[in-house]
Amino acid sequence: MENIKGFKKNFLCGGATAANQIEGAFNIDGKGLSSADFSEYVPKSQRTGDNHMEVTSDFIDKVKSGQYQGHFPKRVGIDFYHNYKEDIKLFAEMGFKAFRMSINWSRIFPKGYENEPNEAGLAFYDDVFKTLKSYNIEPVVTLSHYETPFGLTEKYNGWINRKVIDHFVHYAETVFNRYKNDVKYWITFNEINVINISPFTGAGIISDKLDHPIAASYQALHHQFVASALATQKLKEIDPSAQMGCMIARMKHYPYTCNPQDVLKAQQEDQMNLMYTDVQVRGEYPNFYKQFLTDNGIELDIQDNDLDIIKQHTVDYLSFSYYMSMLSSVAPEGQTTQGNLMNSLKNPYLEASDWGWQIDPIGLRIVLNELWDRYRVPLFIVENGLGAVDEVVDGKIHDDYRIDYLSKHMAEAKKAVEDGVDLIGYLSWAPIDLISMSTSEMSKRYGYIYVDQDNYGNGSMKRMKKDSFEWYKNIISTNGASL
Ligand code: BG6
Repeated sequence: MENIKGFKKNFLCGGATAANQIEGAFNIDGKGLSSADFSEYVPKSQRTGDNHMEVTSDFIDKVKSGQYQGHFPKRVGIDFYHNYKEDIKLFAEMGFKAFRMSINWSRIFPKGYENEPNEAGLAFYDDVFKTLKSYNIEPVVTLSHYETPFGLTEKYNGWINRKVIDHFVHYAETVFNRYKNDVKYWITFNEINVINISPFTGAGIISDKLDHPIAASYQALHHQFVASALATQKLKEIDPSAQMGCMIARMKHYPYTCNPQDVLKAQQEDQMNLMYTDVQVRGEYPNFYKQFLTDNGIELDIQDNDLDIIKQHTVDYLSFSYYMSMLSSVAPEGQTTQGNLMNSLKNPYLEASDWGWQIDPIGLRIVLNELWDRYRVPLFIVENGLGAVDEVVDGKIHDDYRIDYLSKHMAEAKKAVEDGVDLIGYLSWAPIDLISMSTSEMSKRYGYIYVDQDNYGNGSMKRMKKDSFEWYKNIISTNGASL
């Protein structure tokens, strides 16, 4: 009997991004508006909520009519649209085996519901994939990463309307046909669970005038499940050798105390986080979720074939983001801290990032083992990283805190592989500084590559290597031997 030692030979190590956070060029070459183009940068001292991701109808109207003069950083991104050749060259210099990116749906179908695609948008991604191929970097492509075409919001109020399923499947089919020789790893929806935290971010839904916003977002989620299954079916018809993945923001909940009530609460919160992968991997709505819907007076409109479609076209692999763990308590008292999209009670055993996200490398090993035990499908870490303020000193960026975060997480991932987990890759968020999803800040930096730009878009956009650049290069070339 031989023990497994370290990552597999063809381990897909690299970095992950999203179109709306890097590309910019929001109205170039025929691209239409997407939900991300309404994401405003508001300095922390002026923010009213925990984050600034939801929008109101009034806000949207003012932005559209030009009455509102805010700063919308995702419209400019880091101008990857014009710099992708240089940026990919730097990824190749680090030895990337894989690069996760999304296709900006509104670059291909500007309003989301046209019949004919925008050729200029398709041509852009032809070139990106060609560049990746020239360095043997495997693209991992998300179809929808918080970029719902705004036309779908205007026409249908986003994914609430069932008709969006057909538009999504048409978009998916179009890009599968176009890129079938270039892309083998696809993901339908980024962090599909976010729809219930921020319906505008996850599904282009403006909620403020809805009678039952919670029911609407669960209905929209059902549409996304069906759309994802139908897209998976199309992919298999068009390119049987390609792999389709689902993707969640994994939010592991620990009980706050050993009181069985806290343990049960943590289990229930964990189950609700895993409901999404239960549907997409196992092909069925779990009973606890049906119960949850009943308890909340939500009746889903499920049409005749929906459940069969979901059952028949499950995914090949499960991908997820992991940044932190959370705590569950039946009597929540004590300090809370911010986290990725959700706040949590403070865990006294963990340190937190400057943004309050609790750093828990061992949690990643736990999560990997649990996901493997539950599903037995290949797992793929497609986001993990540290958002931090970097300082440039004499032209150098000494980001030892980032190296520390990443090496500890990768080491735990490696231990999980040695525990027996089938892990196909690790893509850190993000290889190059980009616009923050939740706050639209530029100063929350994740990259190995620094981008000279501030929160208001001032700067040369020059790229500079941080200390972590050489560190990651070494990790990849040795397949994590030193972890
Ligand atoms: C994930 C998203 O939830 O977290 C990314 O998929 C996002 O788009 C990442 O950028 C980090 O979050 P933030 O808010 O720090 O950018």
